Amino acid sequence: MTGKILVVDDDSNLLEVLGMRLESSGYEVVTALNDVNAVAALKESPFDLGIIDLQLGERDGISLMKEVHQIRPDIPVIILTAYGSIESAVEAMKNGAFSYLTKPFDPRELLLQIEKALENRKLVSEIKRLKGLLESQYEFSNIIAKSEKMKAVLGLVSRIAAADSTVYIHGESGTGKELIARAIHLASDRKDKPFVAINCAAIPETLLESELFGYEKGAFTGAMQSTKGLFTQAHKGTLFLDEIGNMPISLQKKSLRVLQERQFYPVGGNKPVEVDIRLIVATNLDLKKEAQEGRFREDLFYRVHVIPVLLPPLRERKEDIPHLVAYFLEGFNEKMKKNVKGLTPSAMQKLMLYNWPGNVRELQNTIEFAMAMTRDDVITEDLILQAGGLIQAQEKLSPLKDAKAAFEKSYLIHMLEHTRGNISKASELAGKYRADFYNLIKKYKLKPENFKD
Ligand SMILES: Nc1ncnc2c1ncn2[C@@H]1O[C@H](COP(=O)(O)OP(=O)(O)OP(=O)(O)O)[C@@H](O)[C@H]1O
Ligand SMILES: [Mg+2]
Repeated sequence: MTGKILVVDDDSNLLEVLGMRLESSGYEVVTALNDVNAVAALKESPFDLGIIDLQLGERDGISLMKEVHQIRPDIPVIILTAYGSIESAVEAMKNGAFSYLTKPFDPRELLLQIEKALENRKLVSEIKRLKGLLESQYEFSNIIAKSEKMKAVLGLVSRIAAADSTVYIHGESGTGKELIARAIHLASDRKDKPFVAINCAAIPETLLESELFGYEKGAFTGAMQSTKGLFTQAHKGTLFLDEIGNMPISLQKKSLRVLQERQFYPVGGNKPVEVDIRLIVATNLDLKKEAQEGRFREDLFYRVHVIPVLLPPLRERKEDIPHLVAYFLEGFNEKMKKNVKGLTPSAMQKLMLYNWPGNVRELQNTIEFAMAMTRDDVITEDLILQAGGLIQAQEKLSPLKDAKAAFEKSYLIHMLEHTRGNISKASELAGKYRADFYNLIKKYKLKPENFKD
């Protein structure tokens, strides 16, 4: 193992010998004859280990060790004590020494202790790293992601959370864009600072500018006092611009400038305000296309399109459905004080077959409705169908092929009724050759004789 060791002893001979020995074992060594030099060295560069003599002239080694730990709490310290002073050895351990050695010591014993201490330090920092990882995973624990597609999204998101870069979340409505944005904020260093969300589509164009940038007293009628905008409220935190694609084009220019310069002027103000924000934007539009077609500024698109996160629609990750359902059941059970255990297989099948244009939000609403309605502890198919779009949408949105077939069949029936099953007349009316008409009615299993009276 390698490492950088600080050795402090007031005995210059011992210091020299020790230094040489440790260097020949592959360690980098800095020696200090007194506490002042030791502290100076410590402040200058990082160390992996300290070896401190208990008696350092005026200063005792234990108090120096405490000072070392104030500067660098994670450095293990080995204390060197004089033969027979067991009490001070105990004292040293109580005050946070990693171990102690009594002089005169066996050099091999010292090397062994050093290795142990360095090994221990590595372990501690590894545990710290894992704990951090666990904590950041906890931030994502309310996001269900069992499908490979969603696992990939979460993997990406947890890696980029700590970076301060702008995140561009793209996904259909209800895919969880806001959920992801909040999770990124909570997993970042800005988590204790505000997360300010603003829906660019929901605020009227005339208000958006003052909402975003604030205004000075008297900037317009009704501006009774100056007010901070959302950009300022998000200072040191995260600003989430939701549905950025719907931001009025007039405001896009001003926003771009703010994002470039990180400062802006409130409406009616002439003093610039500086802001430190992490930006996350979300859109359900294809902003690149919007930019190409002139509805979105291209320069703003490139400014915000830094780390793209694509949220797949629910129909492309149906494996997530049962897990989302279980998650929503649990949540609504608690909220509604119910004890619904699950769905019947046919109810679940309906959920799996549907194509969920409203994505996770639509699924959540469907479960909420069914749970509110049920008097049972299972949810049945009929409740799922009543819940919402499912039946209607399935009827309305039948594929073109099916719709065409349904029309063709009813058209043929109509013709056959009209001609009382006379194929020649019916084919003539339909403008078809007799043989073709015949094939068509065979396709729909229609029998001309059934239409005769
Ligand atoms: N993977 C998921 N796990 C758990 N809940 C989810 C998941 N994805 C979405 N949700 C839930 O679905 C609902 C919709 O999510 P969210 O509001 O984040 O979507 P959105 O993409 O911002 O939608 P919109 O485009 O309509 O604004 C929320 O209640 C959210 O908690
Ligand atoms: Mg949203």
